[in-house]
Amino acid sequence: MKKVLVTGGAGYIGCHTAKELLKQGFEVVVFDNLSNGKKEFVLGGELIVGDLLDKDAVRRVFRSGDIAAVLHFASLIQVGESYLDPRKYYGQNLISSLNLLEAMLEAGVRSFIFSSSAAVYGTPLHIPIPEDHPLLPFNPYGQTKFFVEKILQDYDRAYGMKFISLRYFNAAGADPDGEMGEMHNPETHLIPNILLAILGKKEYLEIYGTDFPTPDGTAVRDYIHVTDLSSAHVLALQKLLASSQSEFINLGTNKGYSVREVIAKSEELTGKKVPSRSKSRRQGDVPVLLASKEKAERLLGWKLRYSELETIIETAWKWHKKLN
Ligand code: UFG
Repeated sequence: MKKVLVTGGAGYIGCHTAKELLKQGFEVVVFDNLSNGKKEFVLGGELIVGDLLDKDAVRRVFRSGDIAAVLHFASLIQVGESYLDPRKYYGQNLISSLNLLEAMLEAGVRSFIFSSSAAVYGTPLHIPIPEDHPLLPFNPYGQTKFFVEKILQDYDRAYGMKFISLRYFNAAGADPDGEMGEMHNPETHLIPNILLAILGKKEYLEIYGTDFPTPDGTAVRDYIHVTDLSSAHVLALQKLLASSQSEFINLGTNKGYSVREVIAKSEELTGKKVPSRSKSRRQGDVPVLLASKEKAERLLGWKLRYSELETIIETAWKWHKKLN
């Protein structure tokens, strides 16, 4: 049984992936500072509460000598905040990744799965976006993902650090068994905000931008179910351990929905109205993001199972009702 380290394994995507790793027979060690993660989301394996900025704490994790690979989810994720406070993002996302890679090199661990983002592409020049699309990140959050990808390429060349960088589009939905789901504070993502507005936990949903060059004027995104993201991580890990071949891979569905379409589907599925108000565009939001998923399917044999918009909203709704 291979032991893997999952940083941020108590967070939204990390905990769903840890569950999938356990199911597939991996031994899991979660390392999380619990700043956003929740202890209750760690359903198995070992939880080490620690901070990646603490170099010694990171080194200690590798002391057992039997960690085969690392999946690195831990990261600050708010695009808007990254504009306002870039040093927080460069400081935490870059330094934590460097500390982790340093400890891995010292311990001789050279397999790394990285949580990257569609934000590395910036405003797409064409859609769907393939992995060889120019990288033009324009917010500090996207820059940090871009820089870590560059560091990984250099560490691969110089030290043989093999990696698969997974560029997520819009992660959404919740565990189909209802055990975990999305819970950010503050919540900035569309689907949870729609559900919070339905539940009366938010007075209304703000629709950021109704003047985009899209059919209904609202922005179009590629929503991917978190359990499909998780299965892609397990496949990527298995691929990396078997082939030692570094790759960049998009994780998206190649299907897009506008903000208004997501609202309409949520109203249909919950039978409730979403109170909403139109606002100006959020800084840095692009009109349309759509992934090419051809490489993930071809290289990983990945198949989408839960990413129909209905399933995404239904699983998220079940989770939000349970929470509230
Ligand atoms: N939106 C609203 N109201 C809300 C929240 C979102 O109208 O309350 C809109 C946004 O403006 C955007 C769409 O809904 O058009 C989706 O927004 P999210 O915040 O859910 O997701 P983003 O597309 O902004 O961001 C996601 C990830 C980022 C990542 C980015 C890739 O959350 O981490 O995709 O570009 F960087």
